[in-house]
Amino acid sequence: MASRSGGLTAAMLLTFAGATPAFPSEELLQDTCGGCHTAEDGGLTRITGQRKTPEGWIMTIVRMQQAHGLDISAEDRRAIVQHLADTQGLAPSEAAPFRYALEKDPNAQESFDEPFASMCARCHTGARALLQNRTADEWELHMDFHVGHFPTIEYQALGRDREWYKIAKTEIADYLAEQNPLETAAWTDWQVGEKQPVAGAWVVMTDLPGIGEAYGKLTVTGEASPYQISGEFVTADGTAHPASGQMNLYTGYEWRANLDIGGTVYRQVLALSEDGNSLQGRQFDRGNDALGAPLHGVREGAGSVILGTVPSAVPAGEAQVQVVGTGLDGLESSTGAASANGFGAALTLAAEGNGVVTFSAGGAEGQIAHYTSVDSLRVEPALTIARVGGGSDAGPDAVPAYFNAVGMWNGPDGEAGTEDDIRIGRVEAQWSVANAHEHAAHMKDTEYAGEMQANGIFQPAIAGPNPERPFSANNAGELKVQAEAMGQQAEAMLIVTVQRFIDPPIR
Ligand code: HEC
Ligand code: HEC
Repeated sequence: MASRSGGLTAAMLLTFAGATPAFPSEELLQDTCGGCHTAEDGGLTRITGQRKTPEGWIMTIVRMQQAHGLDISAEDRRAIVQHLADTQGLAPSEAAPFRYALEKDPNAQESFDEPFASMCARCHTGARALLQNRTADEWELHMDFHVGHFPTIEYQALGRDREWYKIAKTEIADYLAEQNPLETAAWTDWQVGEKQPVAGAWVVMTDLPGIGEAYGKLTVTGEASPYQISGEFVTADGTAHPASGQMNLYTGYEWRANLDIGGTVYRQVLALSEDGNSLQGRQFDRGNDALGAPLHGVREGAGSVILGTVPSAVPAGEAQVQVVGTGLDGLESSTGAASANGFGAALTLAAEGNGVVTFSAGGAEGQIAHYTSVDSLRVEPALTIARVGGGSDAGPDAVPAYFNAVGMWNGPDGEAGTEDDIRIGRVEAQWSVANAHEHAAHMKDTEYAGEMQANGIFQPAIAGPNPERPFSANNAGELKVQAEAMGQQAEAMLIVTVQRFIDPPIR
């Protein structure tokens, strides 16, 4: 590595030149990073031997700033992340199994084999490692990086009971070099393949936590990142929430948008399908990423496609339903009347009792359940965590948890909780919490840990020692979250724990 001041000078020259149009190219990379990373094999040492997601590149560059004094403007950083994600990114199939980490899905649970689980997936997600591809040398060097930056790695639990460094340098580095090598057919194919344009109109469907299930349309304009997005989201009762913002498209398919929807800024972490006709991922409140939901989208005019219905299920009787999709002119329904609109088709139902209405258009099929009763309920997610927060200027805010009640029918075997159960859809429920066990009851967790709101969102209490509790305990707790609807009950487990003080883009 060259001297640190070399890197700083290059970066400062760029800043002082006041060159606003940061050019997303190899040259900017050379100028910004070349002071410390010397030229090698047509690239830069340590940089050429790895590929990763946009979030992965941001994390590395932020570390260059924090740990090594790299001086870089926000525009240059964005341009370099764009350039590196485009030229040294992951193919869609490589990122697919671990997108939950990019999407900040609060309910994802990992499960890995040993020794990878204890060695690499205890401080951060295993996904953080598996969302990278490197040469064998780079995987080995990465083990040195860990011990160099975080020497306590060898003394911590699950580190001191084994020869951590040795296992990392041999077994783990070999495993990763084989599992996630720099060169793969998937990446070569993706790089040579033609990329689909992202501009145009998208019909989308999601859930705005605390507001409701929603469908909408987003129109993307522009020729390169940042693209402009404008449109709206509509809830089941017909309320429209205008949406506008910007989107960067990385690696030809990684859609990252910040979107103001009715006054709240949401983040979209989506993947554009390889044929360029559908979108899939998660949308969440940017200030509170636990509050989010999956988002699906289809390009307007991409044949006949049904994404689903808003609402997802209806009480029996008269109901207005939006069938969300595209190309749904002439939608035929087993009952009720349909008329095509800009979000798919509107369906007017008047169905009695429990049953399912099916509909189709142009080969696309869908269905919606109508109900007067449910055989059982399910709370989703079945297990999650929330975090206390606030209470100081410096600490993180509380992290809520978001629950939904889903109605079920028993299915042919007449038994609840078996494989042939029929999922009706989301139903309105009454929410409450109970202490999860004897110790929780003793600590009065229901009183202290937070409040369950009528909209299915649990809002945790303030952080910090609480002198009112035994041992001045924090307002942490273990609760059963209970839903009740149509005479049925169900529960989920909620752990209210302490704050997460360090929260990088890939946890
Ligand atoms: C001031 C010196 C300096 C500058 C400037 C610098 N780096 Fe680094 N970089 C380092 C050092 C030291 C390491 C090895 C320790 C580490 O990984 O943190 C490193 C390591 C790396 C690694 C390997 C990390 C890993 O996970 O194995 C990458 C990738 C990287 N730098 C990318 C960049 C990029 C991209 C830039 C320009 C935007 C940059 N660096 C600018 C000093 C620098
Ligand atoms: C003692 C805790 C700890 C353990 C154990 C650990 N890591 Fe990390 N890891 C970290 C920290 C801290 C960072 C730095 C995060 C940052 O740059 O903000 C990190 C960063 C990373 C990154 C991203 C670095 C980059 O710039 O691309 C990868 C990949 C990674 N670790 C893989 C692994 C692998 C593989 C193992 C197992 C051999 C492992 N980690 C074990 C704490 C740990």
